[in-house]
Amino acid sequence: MNNLPIFVFIIILQSLILSSSCLYQNSSHNILQDSSPFPSDFLFGTASSAYQYEGAFLTEGKGLNNWDIFTHENPGKIRDENNGDMAVDQYHRFKEDIQLMTSLGVNGYRFSISWSRVLPRGRFGGINYSGIKYYNRLIDALISRGIKPFVTLNHLDYPQELENRFQSWLSPEMQNDFGYLADICFKHFGDRVKHWTTLNEPNQQIILTHLKGTFPPSRCSLPYGNCSQGNSEREPFIAAHNTILAHAKAVHIYRRGSLALWCKHHGLNPLAIPSQIEKLQRELNLFIPIDPIIYGKYPKEMVNVLGSALPRFSRKEMENLKQLRLDFIGINHYTSYFIQDCLFSTCNAGDGASKAQGFALKLDRKGNVSIGELTDVNWQHIHPEGFRKTLNYLKNRYHNIPMFITENGFGDLQKPETTLTELLNDTKRIQYMSGYLDALQSAMRDGANVKGYFAWSLLDNFEWLYGYKLRFGLFHVDYTSLKRTPKLSASWYKNYIGEHIRRKYY
Ligand code: NOJ
Repeated sequence: MNNLPIFVFIIILQSLILSSSCLYQNSSHNILQDSSPFPSDFLFGTASSAYQYEGAFLTEGKGLNNWDIFTHENPGKIRDENNGDMAVDQYHRFKEDIQLMTSLGVNGYRFSISWSRVLPRGRFGGINYSGIKYYNRLIDALISRGIKPFVTLNHLDYPQELENRFQSWLSPEMQNDFGYLADICFKHFGDRVKHWTTLNEPNQQIILTHLKGTFPPSRCSLPYGNCSQGNSEREPFIAAHNTILAHAKAVHIYRRGSLALWCKHHGLNPLAIPSQIEKLQRELNLFIPIDPIIYGKYPKEMVNVLGSALPRFSRKEMENLKQLRLDFIGINHYTSYFIQDCLFSTCNAGDGASKAQGFALKLDRKGNVSIGELTDVNWQHIHPEGFRKTLNYLKNRYHNIPMFITENGFGDLQKPETTLTELLNDTKRIQYMSGYLDALQSAMRDGANVKGYFAWSLLDNFEWLYGYKLRFGLFHVDYTSLKRTPKLSASWYKNYIGEHIRRKYY
């Protein structure tokens, strides 16, 4: 095993809509060949996650996980009162889905392991060999079609038993459970899986689970959210600390391969002038826990702002962290914000304005100027240039470590009046992807060491609190029949990949 799994924190970037795709369509074949920055081994793929895709929530020995419990106990918290019991049933339809991938010409598929399918009760019960068999079949089928499996060990879902026993990520016990999961996955799949990532967007996940409390285990305190338990000023940092050390544990177990950490990154444009860079860094550092994994310590901006709320690493943990080799960073990127400093100047309340959020207010407009066109999703403005800037920032801060864009995509909110034809004719998605892929190319020409791009998502799927109403797929899913139908963006992506990669082989 030469590759370690990579944990990438996903960054959200915003951008201007550009039209480089037109440039490609109008250019001659040779010019394309010369101008494309994508190397021939670049991975173009699509991304998914277990709870959002698999369904089969009680099939063949799977245990209950946090999202099974949350959606069943609180149906009103999901916009369409739905859940992932069935999702898009990839558990039973993966062969059909691989056909769809083949039709796109992708050479990578990012999916996650359902922890409770493999270990229904974490360390406190046996291995579910039906779950192992499922992932073996999926991996083998992908490889037989020339599609590299890009596996995330954990994408938000974990056995409910771990919540009930020790409050999951609030306990260092979770590090041991995560290590156990990692060990089992490496042993059973590591001979064929060469790209691993540990945790999906831990920086974003913790905001939702322990700061705002909108995701299970629904822990928070006022004014961040209205939960029956939790402490938004402290718990997010304890949970984040445990994810960092859990990542480290997995890397040490894997040591024979390559591993990464996974983050959510927003493109951030400083709003105020003085000390812009320092403020920008403070915000980025608070939400991108990559520093400890690379440098063995929290960034000083974070320590200064958070003081005793920030857990400390022991000397041994620091040494362990410093020895980790991060083979790549995975980046989920969707949008960007303006950022206003609230440490040295007065800010109105808002997302980011508190100590726990780094005193860095996130805004979608500067005066009357919006950061970019607002999509159907209230957090997603289109600003590709922010993507380019983020990649350059990461390139400079982390010595041009290889990067994979592990998610980037566009969501369509299905309203009562939306027609199927409108959903299939998704020109806005094409415009979005085209702009962001242009920005990616620009960043690569700037020198960013990007190795792959995964579109979120192959199919429409269960979009967490939005349920099935928010559709990110290149393929439309009819949730009655589960029929998959290509949208316009599917053929656009196929052509794009063909133009940029396949042509290099001939
Ligand atoms: C990032 C998350 O990893 C994924 O689960 C989610 O569906 C997409 N963003 C879109 O919101």
